[in-house]
Amino acid sequence: MCGIVGYIGREQAAPVLLEGLSRLEYRGYDSAGVAVFDAEAGTLAVHKAKGRLQVLSEQLHGGADLNSTMGVGHTRWATHGAPSDINSHPQVSHSGRIAVVHNGIIENYAELKAFLMAQGVPFTSETDTEVVAQLIEYFYEGDLLAAVGRVLRRIQGAYALGILCADCPDRIVAVRKDSPLILGYGEGCSLIASDVTAILGHTRRVGYMEDGELAVLTRESIQCYNHLMQPIEKKIVTVDWELDAAEKGGYEHFMFKEIMEQPDALRRCLSPRIREGDIMFEDLSLSQEFLQNMRRIYIVACGSSCHVGMVGKYHLERLTRIPVEVALGSEFRYMDPIVDRHTLVIVISQSGETLDTMAALREARRLGGRILSIVNVVGSSIARESNQVLYTWAGPEIAVATTKAYTTQLALLSLLALWMARRLGAVSGEEFQAALAAFQELPGKMEEVLSRRDSIQYLASRYFNHDSIFFIGRNLDYALGLEGSLKLKEISYIHSEAYAAGELKHGTISLIEDGTLVVALSTYGKLFSKAMSNVIEVKARGADVLSLTVESRGEEMRHTADGVMSIPDIHELLLPCLGVVPLQLFAYYVALMRGCDIDKPRNLAKSVTVE
Ligand code: G6P
Repeated sequence: MCGIVGYIGREQAAPVLLEGLSRLEYRGYDSAGVAVFDAEAGTLAVHKAKGRLQVLSEQLHGGADLNSTMGVGHTRWATHGAPSDINSHPQVSHSGRIAVVHNGIIENYAELKAFLMAQGVPFTSETDTEVVAQLIEYFYEGDLLAAVGRVLRRIQGAYALGILCADCPDRIVAVRKDSPLILGYGEGCSLIASDVTAILGHTRRVGYMEDGELAVLTRESIQCYNHLMQPIEKKIVTVDWELDAAEKGGYEHFMFKEIMEQPDALRRCLSPRIREGDIMFEDLSLSQEFLQNMRRIYIVACGSSCHVGMVGKYHLERLTRIPVEVALGSEFRYMDPIVDRHTLVIVISQSGETLDTMAALREARRLGGRILSIVNVVGSSIARESNQVLYTWAGPEIAVATTKAYTTQLALLSLLALWMARRLGAVSGEEFQAALAAFQELPGKMEEVLSRRDSIQYLASRYFNHDSIFFIGRNLDYALGLEGSLKLKEISYIHSEAYAAGELKHGTISLIEDGTLVVALSTYGKLFSKAMSNVIEVKARGADVLSLTVESRGEEMRHTADGVMSIPDIHELLLPCLGVVPLQLFAYYVALMRGCDIDKPRNLAKSVTVE
């Protein structure tokens, strides 16, 4: 959601900015723009366009038209003001001297705008960001950093900012509070970006800005300051993500590539943690005393990460007998949660930047909870603010609809549940070893499922024309249905809902009529016969039933359902992790057949950094 790139160096800046923005496209946006310092004219040149980045890029002939070695670029996901050329960033002060790109929301912008307008400052856009540009200009008396400092004391909300001033051809100023921004330390160049994929082509040496920090970037160096404007040293870390990991590498879509990468991602995530017949969480230090006195677990997350939490609840409660509550990041703060020092709060986030999840984390910490996060992006805000972090090591995930991040989160949370149960003496050595062996078999079994993708493609071709689909399942299959349904609706735009199968009779069954597609999930062996009853129930009302079950039950299901997808039998801890793959493929092929923009579905953002 909104992407920022900034570059100051010796190369032409505009092509660097456009390339960086193209790598941030996945975050979700509806317009794009760049501002560069035009050395000949001594002014800032600003170019913006509504729609895809391609539109801007064509207008600028790939950036070759702009002769400049410093600038900032932005992809905007509209909040204040509709998507339009005028509302796009960079936003510029009335004299054209200051240009700003912004990710986040300035909450008190209306009051500041009224103040500036009363001073005669003319506004052109509806954005909250223009207020920042105008306010910097208002306070500017020849010292850009001082003017930015004065503005920061007045604005409230969340922001990552990249700031150019026509009077300062040798610097970019960057600021961060509650929205991500990283610094790139290149050879003869310095960069800012919303995430590391945007600058990997120029440097792997990055610094993570903390809340309230400012940075001044020049061609030779980056100087950081704390909120009191005191100079600080920034730790530089070397990122080990490969640039090609963030490229399509011959696949038509990132989503498909990422689906296919799942077995390897799981190996990366699990192998180092399963050794010598035990689970080794070297990155975890939950003492035996804490575990034994733990009274409650909260799992907090948004979107698919929250669906991981739903599965995790079943596993954790079954294995440890400790009560687990799953809360949406956006709800947690407002539900007066019961958290104390005996509460473990598991925060799950691929990006590590989801604002609602982050806010929930802070609330849980304030209440005294112990925060353990499961995160993909190393060094992200959620990772840095947690007491403990387990990284999923899934590699960069670019498609908006999550796949490999979901399965690695799920595998890791399931492994954590098993680890806790073992530490609490709640599972026998034999049960523990059997489960552990299943984790080791998981990537291979997933490869089997992926190798049979043609059969799913065929089923998709039978059903892609439906305009309303219901996913039903019980217990683990219910949690799995929530994710299967979300995958389908987010990329194919088909109306789809997931129901606990037993709940169907309490209302939703009235919507089932001749030809309604019901995806019936029955991988969980203990409840197979109940699942079968629900299939019969909806069939009796005319539904077309597509079932997902385990191979050992496939034959039985084939007698009743109209279509059957199956996965190899596996330990119940890993059923949803394996079972989600046919559902991801089904969603993918359906969206493909409907001609949808699979990697960048309308209105969605990969990283949701506003409330
Ligand atoms: C967005 C993405 C979802 C994701 C959710 C939470 O809505 O489109 O795929 O599940 O954010 O993101 P997180 O990075 O916190 O896991």
